Amino acid sequence: MTDRTALIDRLDRALRPRAARVQSALASPVRNARMTVVVGRLLAIAFLICFATGLYSHFLQSPVGWFVAPARPEYLYAWTQGAHVIVGSMLVPLLLAKLWVVYPRLFQWPPVSGPVSVLERASVGVLVATALVLPMTGILNVLQWYPWEFSFRRTHFALAWALMGALLLHIAVQLPKIRRHWREGGESDE
Ligand code: HEM
Repeated sequence: MTDRTALIDRLDRALRPRAARVQSALASPVRNARMTVVVGRLLAIAFLICFATGLYSHFLQSPVGWFVAPARPEYLYAWTQGAHVIVGSMLVPLLLAKLWVVYPRLFQWPPVSGPVSVLERASVGVLVATALVLPMTGILNVLQWYPWEFSFRRTHFALAWALMGALLLHIAVQLPKIRRHWREGGESDE
């Protein structure tokens, strides 16, 4: 056995039981795949509403040659912006609920099982980071408080695309589980 495999082996023996203990201490009847899907699909609807209404606002403020966003009826912008801000604020508790349900998975051992799993975990990292930062920058913008140097509009817009990409990937990876738990009493994961 090389020094490297011996070290990995020791690390594995030390951390595997600890990870199992933490996961069983955090286990709860409401921390399950069905709850993840129920909260997840509400979150997906909320993020899609924010993305669509955000794009509409962006193209009104920064028109591109090939697409003219409709500016009439005149109350359309008030309604879409109202929906953007209300839904964007309401999704924060939903997001925290979703993270509360899944965070014990942070302690899963081994953390990754190969190169594809490294990419999948990295995309979950991007998803969580953007899902937390995006609504926060929006809420601070409503308060007209800018404790940063960067352009709010450009950063908010770029983060929205990064979040949508990571969300699509997340849904694609979790699709088998999502389908199993879409309806109450779906099949078990075992
Ligand atoms: C911004 C929105 C979302 C965030 C931040 C998020 C975050 C997460 C995280 C951190 C995990 C744990 C991943 C892991 O350790 O492997 C997870 C798992 C999961 N997510 Fe999401 N998610 C979001 C949206 C969604 C949506 C829209 C759905 C589907 C409707 C969904 C369904 C699932 C499922 C089925 C799992 C696996 C749960 C399990 O195995 O018990 N998620 N999510």
